Amino acid sequence: MISREIIDEIVFRNDIEQVIGSYVTLKRAGSNLNGLCPFHNEKTPSFTVFPGTKSFYCFGCGSGGDVITFIMRAENLDYKEALEFLAARAGITIPDDNDSPVEKTIPRKRIYEMNMDAAKFFRSCLFDEGYGREAMAYLHNERKLSMATIKHFGLGYSPNNAWLLTNHMKKLGYTDDELVTGFLCGRSQKSGRLYDYFRNRVIFPIIDTSGNVVAFGGRVMDDSKPKYLNTSDTPAFKKSRHLFALNYAKKHCEEQMMLCEGYMDVIAMHAAGFENAVATLGTAITSEQARIFAKYTKKVIICYDADNAGQTAAKKAMRLLDEVGVEVRVLKIPGAKDPDEYIKKYGVESFKKAIGESKTGFDYQLDRIISSYNLEIAEDKIKASEEATALIVAAYSQVQRDIYVRKAAEKLGVSAEAMKADVDRQRKKLAREFRQKELSDAKMSVKNLGNRTNTEAAKHIRANANEEQLLGLMLVFDEYRRDAANGSAGISVDDFVTEFGRRVFVTLCELENSESGFSQAVLNQHFIDKEFDLIKKIEMERRQLGRNDQAVFEACINGLKQEKRRIEQSGEDISAQLQAARAHLQKKKNKEN
Ligand code: UTP
Ligand code: MN
Repeated sequence: MISREIIDEIVFRNDIEQVIGSYVTLKRAGSNLNGLCPFHNEKTPSFTVFPGTKSFYCFGCGSGGDVITFIMRAENLDYKEALEFLAARAGITIPDDNDSPVEKTIPRKRIYEMNMDAAKFFRSCLFDEGYGREAMAYLHNERKLSMATIKHFGLGYSPNNAWLLTNHMKKLGYTDDELVTGFLCGRSQKSGRLYDYFRNRVIFPIIDTSGNVVAFGGRVMDDSKPKYLNTSDTPAFKKSRHLFALNYAKKHCEEQMMLCEGYMDVIAMHAAGFENAVATLGTAITSEQARIFAKYTKKVIICYDADNAGQTAAKKAMRLLDEVGVEVRVLKIPGAKDPDEYIKKYGVESFKKAIGESKTGFDYQLDRIISSYNLEIAEDKIKASEEATALIVAAYSQVQRDIYVRKAAEKLGVSAEAMKADVDRQRKKLAREFRQKELSDAKMSVKNLGNRTNTEAAKHIRANANEEQLLGLMLVFDEYRRDAANGSAGISVDDFVTEFGRRVFVTLCELENSESGFSQAVLNQHFIDKEFDLIKKIEMERRQLGRNDQAVFEACINGLKQEKRRIEQSGEDISAQLQAARAHLQKKKNKEN
């Protein structure tokens, strides 16, 4: 644990204006400073630094916090790493206390070094006449990869031997802890002995834009399961924040990029000359990844698999990319299950043609609606029109909606006037609902005004309520903590809205996953007094509710995700109206007292 005094000193010695100023061009505006937000794409500055309170806040995307939070986000670090980063910047040495069994963090540099050594090892195995024969034949003959492509992507092979890599890495001086934390080795429950995590797999190194090997994917060469093994999140890697092959694609991405589902699609596309292709790492696209796209390009062509799963995923990708202002197209590849297969079957020219014919997000969705109904039947036609209306309602600009209405009405064979009337009515209804929600938010936020520990609580009332419920359940009931920590509950730190909630969640998960496990005493060490008081309060309130209910847990997770989406979508959370309402209610409350 880093002591409170040291943390205070780190914050004190890292002037927030200077620190942020080295990332963002700031202009003075009264006692504050303004600039373009580094965390979302914007053209007019809504990012504000408040030197008085040593904090920052973006009125565009709602991100905010102190100098530590800023570095966490800007440098992609966790809390402790950010402290180390800032300590180094200010020339402060953090005393290490080896008596803390809670967690030993391994510097990310060390993990990069270790991964680089492992990548070299995997590559030498692939090129080894003995070990690598079968894997090389698989890549050449079955996947039709040229030697140049294999080398370009640094592909490798992990032999079918449980200790080959482990022994090699130990000889190079890596410790057991380093190898396990870096996800190159597992540790046997029984003997405590290490073993290679990847065995008998073709290895795909994942390289970040600075050239660091941050993780690996490994594919079997037959039909056994799981098809791929991937590095889990490590101190140097969060899969939700990386894109495979971005290290190459970043040089070819100004106009457009291709988003694929898998490693092999990306490799096939690069080999065919489409060097702007990237893929997420075995997960659906996240909002963080959408922001990466926004940073690098104007247009993304979604090249997902033709199956249903791929098409559902495309919808999500469309929404997230649309939210960050990236133009979206969707590729259709008839006659093949994925781009890799398509290129092999029909050739590069045909694939180029398909890209040229890729549809805009709206056309693609409209076509999907139309093809899922039989327009000869009146009821079906009505349902299809309703779905199309909902699609149009979501469009931001009036001009866009006008164009869409005409197009949809024509394709559906209904009157454009009637459809326009429906769209207008729906939009009015949505606006009304939004206002009502804001008002009730304002009422609730008065209750949260006194919350000085979680200062974001008043801004994000609903999210905070869900966070507190969720954390309460994790504090009181072991099974929720376990499910959240091992990922099976489907909640991650990225779903949290307030910085405090995030921190409590991460700490609970880390303790749960640590060797010594979770206990109140260690939890205490991670927070300053007033924070721990708030945690206690959350726990006590949850205890009073009693009943251990899975449905509540799930509802909170869904509620929180929904709020997060809403906040990200509206891009704004304290509207003038909300502030006015809050002031009004506060005045009223003061009078009552
Ligand atoms: P695909 O099954 O489409 O893989 O999964 P692929 O890349 O096209 O591979 P081939 O052509 O079958 O060899 C898409 C992505 O989902 C992740 C991987 O990142 C893969 O590239 N995945 C898939 C896993 O992480 N684990 C799995 O078991 C399967
Ligand atoms: Mn494939």
